[in-house]
Amino acid sequence: MSFCLVGCRYSGRGCFTKLKANTSDPEPFIYMAKPMIAGNWKSYVTSTKEAKKLFKDIEKGLPRQLKADVVLFPPSLLLHPLARNYSGKRISFGAQDIFFESGAHTGETPALLAKDVGARYALIGHAEKRAQGETDETVAKKVGAALDAKLTPVVAFGESSRDKNGEYLEDLARSILESLALVDVLSLKKVILAYEPVWAIGAPLPPTGRTIRHTMIFIRKTLAQKFKREDALKVRILYGGAVNEESALEIIQNGETGGFLLGRASIHADSFTSIVSQWATK
Ligand code: PGA
Repeated sequence: MSFCLVGCRYSGRGCFTKLKANTSDPEPFIYMAKPMIAGNWKSYVTSTKEAKKLFKDIEKGLPRQLKADVVLFPPSLLLHPLARNYSGKRISFGAQDIFFESGAHTGETPALLAKDVGARYALIGHAEKRAQGETDETVAKKVGAALDAKLTPVVAFGESSRDKNGEYLEDLARSILESLALVDVLSLKKVILAYEPVWAIGAPLPPTGRTIRHTMIFIRKTLAQKFKREDALKVRILYGGAVNEESALEIIQNGETGGFLLGRASIHADSFTSIVSQWATK
């Protein structure tokens, strides 16, 4: 059986031909590289002591044979003590946000400073920043600054809600392309995307793996409008929003994601390490 994916309803410039998809007919978008499991601690952690304990519990609970890149995004003031002391082969750190330039910008963290204190990654465009007014244009500048500072940008985007005609896909495509406006084919290899539907962040349950997979295909099709298809296929695309240890495996098996960006599940060492371990049983 074949059926039309959400993507073929997209009526914009990138209108797709029909795609076949069912469990016995997987799209050739199977993600080959090592997955990345990232934990966004948001502002849940409120002391250095708590952060160090959480880090140590996560480190202890990780499987010996680690089949994923593990990255933690602590609050900015904790980046320095954690990254300087604990950044290693098994766990790296990233900034929850960066600013695109140094200078008179109160409260911001310039990309170069994040890099200097030990960050390897920078989360950019998270829904909670976009809700405060961050635009795709600002996201694009931050992505450019991260690349210049030799930080790996993890660029987050996602629709606020869905409509049954699939019109949200047009906005999603525009947001992806505008957020990557300063990324060229060479730097695309250094960029990680994180699809996080706003309606799933903080929700009790994530969408099914199949729903996520359809959106992953749509995202790759969108990337292929700007980059070559082969390059679009290689981009690591994480999923984030309400993933927990109960729901993770189904998404790992059916979602065709390149990993997860976890919020609540990342501040409980048992949940976080269980999700990392589940990639081994994929
Ligand atoms: P959640 O958050 O896992 O708590 O839903 C995800 C995110 O905001 O990255």
